[in-house]
Amino acid sequence: MKSFSKRMDAFGTSIFTELKAMKLAYMEETGKEPIDFSIGSPNIPPAEPIVRAMKEAMDVPENFKYAITELPELLEAVQDWYQNRYDVSLDPDQIVCMSGTQEALSTICLALCDPDDLVLVPDPCYPVFQDGPKIAGAQVAYMPLKEENDYLIQLDEIDEETAKRAKLMVVSYPNNPTCATAPDWFYEKLIAFAKRYDIMVIHDNAYSELIFDGSQGRSFLSYPGAMEIGVEMNSLSKTFGLAGARIGVCVGNKEMIGAYRVLKSNMDYGIFLPVQRGGIEALRHCMDTIPATRKAYKDRRDVLSSAFQKAGWIIEPSPATMFAWAPIPKSYTSSNAFVKDLLKKTGVVVTPGESFGQYGMRYVRFALVQDVEQIREAARRIQASGLFAEEKR
Ligand SMILES: Cc1ncc(COP(=O)(O)O)c(C=O)c1O
Repeated sequence: MKSFSKRMDAFGTSIFTELKAMKLAYMEETGKEPIDFSIGSPNIPPAEPIVRAMKEAMDVPENFKYAITELPELLEAVQDWYQNRYDVSLDPDQIVCMSGTQEALSTICLALCDPDDLVLVPDPCYPVFQDGPKIAGAQVAYMPLKEENDYLIQLDEIDEETAKRAKLMVVSYPNNPTCATAPDWFYEKLIAFAKRYDIMVIHDNAYSELIFDGSQGRSFLSYPGAMEIGVEMNSLSKTFGLAGARIGVCVGNKEMIGAYRVLKSNMDYGIFLPVQRGGIEALRHCMDTIPATRKAYKDRRDVLSSAFQKAGWIIEPSPATMFAWAPIPKSYTSSNAFVKDLLKKTGVVVTPGESFGQYGMRYVRFALVQDVEQIREAARRIQASGLFAEEKR
């Protein structure tokens, strides 16, 4: 057999596959189910009308045909969503819907970048932000997100040569994994920077509905000039509990959307029609379910911070998202080593921060996908383990 593609040299087994193997080994050894905070798969189900719309669509035999493109009603629902929620006007040719933004982020660079083009991505970042460019053969340069800078990208620290070479940058606030939000001035500066160096921007807005200080998350496209240089990914997964159904959107700059649409038309046959019907129902009639979802994540965040503090683990309440970004004990130098010990001693699974980039080395990420009782149980086990006894002193 001849050798496989060199492209694969840039990829290892995904962290979630590795964590799954660790969990299975733990279960075999102890006979107990671990408390899993690793993958961000919501346990809050979709609202009943969404499920009903999907079920009704499943009863129509034609809906099992290839969809090929979006239903016109879905494009209209996305237009109205962006207009009413974010004050952003979109023409239909500024919208692509796809089976989840993960898929879009993994392939869009094939339409936007040539091999060896340079893409700027945050470190730490949601893994596909760097995997997408690597799949396209592009090079990646990292923009550190540091606690002392409120995890904001320091655009002034990107050297001139790198900025000139860069073709594309990926930016995302509210941010996974750091949970940071970005102020208006950051977006204004980002757009000016991107224009100055002629860099395309992909903004990922998966968590605009999960901000906890009472402010309304905005769209990147609502800032003047954004539409000239960028697109935004937005997902129904977390906002409407539809992660497994797979539906998301990419909207914004006409030319970028056009290129991505052509690529996509050669790669897939569109979103399963009953899922499109569920998406339409969500966007048209289920916006009023969002506050309850936000409250559920906020309550989990609050319980995590207070119960873990009692166990000696200080975790600042996340300003946004469905995650918590937690420092590892001082006695550890690597989050991987800490995650292994944490599982062994407590049966609690979290994601090592270094799997999101080297600047995540001293952190772990909790996905708030367990109910408050499970969060309290995790805190009790951590307290009993003594892992944070030193931190308390
Ligand atoms: C920042 C970010 N973008 C995209 C995704 C993927 O979402 P989707 O379900 O739309 O593929 C996630 C999922 O966790 C995410 O955290």
